[in-house]
Order: sequence, then C-alpha cells, then structure tokens
Amino acid sequence: MKIRKAVIPAAGYGTRFLPATKSQPKEMLPIIDKPTIQYIVEEAVAAGIEEILIITNSQKTSIENHFDRSWELEYFLVRKGKTQELEQIQHISEIANIHTVRQKEQKGLGHAIYCAKAFVGNEPFAVLLGDDVVDHDTYPAIKQLCDQYEALESSIVGVQEVPYEDLNKYGIVELEKPLKDHVGKLVGMVEKPDSSVAPSHFAVLGRYVLTPRIFDLLEHQAAGHGGEIQLTDAICGLVKYEGVYAYEFSGKRYDVGSKIGYLEAILDFALKRDDLKEEVKVLLKNKTKE
Ligand code: G1P
Repeated sequence: MKIRKAVIPAAGYGTRFLPATKSQPKEMLPIIDKPTIQYIVEEAVAAGIEEILIITNSQKTSIENHFDRSWELEYFLVRKGKTQELEQIQHISEIANIHTVRQKEQKGLGHAIYCAKAFVGNEPFAVLLGDDVVDHDTYPAIKQLCDQYEALESSIVGVQEVPYEDLNKYGIVELEKPLKDHVGKLVGMVEKPDSSVAPSHFAVLGRYVLTPRIFDLLEHQAAGHGGEIQLTDAICGLVKYEGVYAYEFSGKRYDVGSKIGYLEAILDFALKRDDLKEEVKVLLKNKTKE
C-alpha cells in the first residue's frame, strides 16, 4: 500500500534554542533562508506524500501562516515586479495539503502522535521529526522508508549508527540479527538508554513508517523515560503484535535541535548553493586563519 499521509510533530517548546524560541517556534528557525519545517515538508512531498498533518500548539500559528497564502505580500511583490519571489512564496502554499491539530498538553512524542489518530484513519503513515534534517540529493530518507514499507508491509523505523557516547540521546533498537542489506527485524527498542546497556549502536533518527495499530498502543501507553508518553515504548509494544523492522537509511543527517548540528546544517547547505558557496568558502578559509 502506498503511503499517502505524513505526521510532523511540532508542538515542543524548543527550550534548547531559548531565547530565540521564546515567541517563535523552533521549527521556523531558518537554515539560511528557509524554515527548518519547510525542508521536512519538502522531503515528505518528494516521497509522494499528499496529506501532511502538523501537530502544533497555541504558540505555533506562524507555522500555519507559513504554509498559507499571504495576499498582502503577494500583492506587494506583484506591484514591485518581483516575479521570482512571488512564485517562491506562492509555491509554499501549494506544496501539499497541510493540516494542523493542536496538542493541548505537552505529554511527550507518543502523545503528540496520538493526536493524529483521526487524521490517519486506518492506513499506514509516515512520521518525520523536525529536529532531524536528512539531506540526500536523489533519494529522500522518508521515501527510502516508504519503499521498504511497500516491500515488507510492516512498520519501519529509520536508523543510523551513532557513536557510543551518543547512544543515550536516542531511541536505540534491539535487533533479532545484524542488519542485512540495511534491514533487520526488531526485537525491541529502548528510549535513551545508558550507553553501557544500549542494545545496539543503531539509533532511530526521526523517520518512521507505522501501521495504524500504533494508536491502540499509544492510547494505553504509560509514561516512560522523562515522565513522558514515548513513541519508542509504543513501538516496542507493537513488536508483540506484528513485525517491525529497522532500516538503515542513507543520507547526511543533521541534529538541528542542537546548536552545533544546526550550525553545521547551515554551513553545508550554503556550500551546496551556487549563489553562496564561493563566498562561504572564502569566509571559512579566513576564519580558520584567524
Ligand atoms: C525523539 C525520540 C527518539 C529519537 C529522537 C531522534 O527524541 O523520542 O527515540 O531517537 O527523537 O531525533 P527527542 O530528541 O525528541 O528527545
């Protein structure tokens, strides 16, 4: 079955980026001149996804505005003859069918995903977390997972290997056997384990394709790590009912939820842009000399 729907949780407070996120959603922080969430939405669209639900809260209206028409700005750009800019901003509002729902209490990622139950209905769906930007020139990470879903018809979590000292920052998968051709069956998953007891070195990095049965588990999921309802724990429960797989996706992943990951994303994306790369290279050269 083709994956048509995606869910993007964006209801967190973004405390790691205070004070920038005091009155502005962290998902709207730009990587150069495009909000982070637009990269995530574009990845989903490039994977053929038609309907996107963004989980927000009362502080996130600028996300809704970003994907809506902006008549005043459009009129201004028409008058000024700024055709290119006009096309660019009109494109954003036409990119996909964007829906929003508010998470009324901050009870964790699992609870945020549960808010998508009515939108998803009875079909498999993709989940993309906004703190993980994955760059791939030709094959978007979520498309890789959707293709695996079509082959396996089972829930898939997107993983990559992370250094030992970082294992306690992620959901870590426990595999039945070592990955073969980048795929492996899950036995379980642990949210942010102590590195010394982590079941593998493969971390879930913000990309999932899940079957709708996950909602049955989320509905009764008790709070876990950090006192929050964890998606990881519900996936662990799902393993008891149906096959769940890990897929090692390719692509450069940036942790834009961390300051250094965010900075690296800005530099790398700038170095890929024809209008910026030469100047950025000179800038970096001069900075390293300093
Ligand atoms: C969330 C998930 C975690 C996953 C991580 C990827 O954690 O709970 O399992 O590995 O995203 O970025 P968070 O970073 O929101 O604490």
